[in-house]
Amino acid sequence: MERQASQGSGIKSFRLRGKRMTRAQNAALIRSWDQFGIEFGTPVDIDHLFPNAREIIVEIGFGMGDATAEIAKAHPDNGYVAIEVHPPGIGKLLSLIEEHTLKNVYIIEGDAIEILESMFKDHSINGFHLFFPDPWPKQKHNKRRIVNAEFLKLIHRKLIANGYINIATDWVPYAQWISDVFAQSAQFTGGEVPRPTWRPYTKFEGKGLAKDHRVSDFHYVAKG
Ligand SMILES: C[S@@+](CC[C@H](N)C(=O)[O-])C[C@H]1O[C@@H](n2cnc3c(N)ncnc32)[C@H](O)[C@@H]1O
Repeated sequence: MERQASQGSGIKSFRLRGKRMTRAQNAALIRSWDQFGIEFGTPVDIDHLFPNAREIIVEIGFGMGDATAEIAKAHPDNGYVAIEVHPPGIGKLLSLIEEHTLKNVYIIEGDAIEILESMFKDHSINGFHLFFPDPWPKQKHNKRRIVNAEFLKLIHRKLIANGYINIATDWVPYAQWISDVFAQSAQFTGGEVPRPTWRPYTKFEGKGLAKDHRVSDFHYVAKG
């Protein structure tokens, strides 16, 4: 089946890179998309997907999915919905789902903002993971950073009371930006935290650390 991804318009937090996939990623897509992919536009029926899950976690921008698969494997009681615009990453995460026989991960392809707005019921998500969002370092591009006042309103609406978001970044000015945006919101409480022991290292994070970037982790809780 042809995969449906969100198209959308307006300022985007991502730039679409090449769509070229490896043979293995493409093969995983063909084999497993119908089982683990959710088509854009289909309302996400959480009770049906994860009837017994302890928590429902949505990951925004999973990249190649290494952290997603590792976290899902370590927490089989939770249900994970992983969102990414980059097709090779979708293929890669499907291959990891197959390799680890994961039963608790579903994937949606497209822009997380549109997907959250249109496919998830309000107050249905326990937590968000946002690991190494694109930093958009040039000032003229700062407006493309996914963390902004509108984003906070959207995730607050989708979270249950006392739901949370975990964020990591290796870009110090973005860490400051994240702190400032949350500080200006009356809807969340929290701040910088020590690196959570459950958060695996990703290739992307490794590249930052190799350049001596300081990594900051944040945990914010939605006020009811
Ligand atoms: C810098 S990478 C980090 C990937 C991964 N989280 C990691 O730690 O390795 C950021 C990812 O977020 C994705 N992304 C950015 N904005 C997005 C959006 N609005 N919806 C879905 N994915 C998005 C990009 O395609 C990219 O793969």
